[in-house]
Amino acid sequence: MATTTFFSPLLTSNRYKTGAAVSSFNSLPSSSSCLQFRSLVSDSTSVYDRRKFTGKLRTVSVIVSSAATTEPLTVLVTGAGGRTGQIVYKKLKERTDQFVARGLVRTKESKEKIGGEDEVFIGDIRDPATIGQAVQGIDALVILTSAVPQMKPGFDPSKGGRPEFYFDEGAYPEQVDWIGQKNQIDAAKAAGVKQIVLVGSMGGTNINHPLNSIGNANILVWKRKAEQYLADSGIPYTIIRAGGLQDKEGGIRELLVGKDDELLETETRTIARADVAEVCVQALQLEEAKFKALDLASKPEGTGTPTEDFKALFAQVTTRF
Ligand SMILES: NC(=O)c1ccc[n+]([C@@H]2O[C@H](COP(=O)([O-])OP(=O)(O)OC[C@H]3O[C@@H](n4cnc5c(N)ncnc54)[C@H](OP(=O)(O)O)[C@@H]3O)[C@@H](O)[C@H]2O)c1
Repeated sequence: MATTTFFSPLLTSNRYKTGAAVSSFNSLPSSSSCLQFRSLVSDSTSVYDRRKFTGKLRTVSVIVSSAATTEPLTVLVTGAGGRTGQIVYKKLKERTDQFVARGLVRTKESKEKIGGEDEVFIGDIRDPATIGQAVQGIDALVILTSAVPQMKPGFDPSKGGRPEFYFDEGAYPEQVDWIGQKNQIDAAKAAGVKQIVLVGSMGGTNINHPLNSIGNANILVWKRKAEQYLADSGIPYTIIRAGGLQDKEGGIRELLVGKDDELLETETRTIARADVAEVCVQALQLEEAKFKALDLASKPEGTGTPTEDFKALFAQVTTRF
């Protein structure tokens, strides 16, 4: 019943609460406890003097409908044990008035690492049967899984040269970034998900991008194929193509959005994982982020103005793919 959530501390701190709702709280007679007020809302046979409270009753119905639109979103983050995934998961967990966080990881060790309990599921995105339970009942999905290249042993930085990389058998980008992401999109769609945020990578417009040559595995090609599949799915989506990821503090740089890898031609081609994570979380809350694909980087720290207005950031994006 809406009235039960209406009075929770959770909603009183909800930043989406309307002005009308706030002022009606302020105008409560000081003698009215929340419990009494709830009785008036939920029970038409209330013993309280309804003539005395008529005006308040009308106001309450406004608040209840407002509350009904601000239920926390249940959000599943896949790759929740990964370096960006775990930041997103943590941010969602911290914002309890807005989100109910879930995670999907591959191993029990990853689950323990992120301090997850029942809301962290163990599964492999290459096997749809293992992700079905995690997507049941979710409102939104944030995809942060990726094939991860391994460094070939024997590389000695002191001797110069470049390390070589390979992918484990069965864990090539085709299996993880294409089939695995497609599996997630299909499962989420079947579960009635209302939005999917997908983190990909800049560079996908260039078939000759060096990342494609890692293990001869065309990682950007397969990522791009999954992005296209999502864009064609009919589900509201946000595709975030990040620049080079850095493990740095977030929230202290001006973020830049672009399209078609144009940012790669500039000096600003990197971004903190924490900033990517925040953009993911903001995308879940803003209509301006839906049905959009964007390249994402940031100005160096100390130049520009740290981004706070994410609505304006997403509004700059005009590209659907
Ligand atoms: N590195 C960069 O500079 C860069 C630049 C631009 C964009 N990106 C992209 O940004 C995204 C986030 O990058 P990141 O470095 O934060 O990621 P990451 O740390 O490499 O995490 C990838 C996650 O995917 C999970 N995963 C892999 N295969 C899986 C499978 N079969 N089933 C379930 N989970 C699986 C991994 O699980 P485990 O923890 O069990 O291994 C890991 O948690 C990725 O898509 C990446 O390609 C990266």
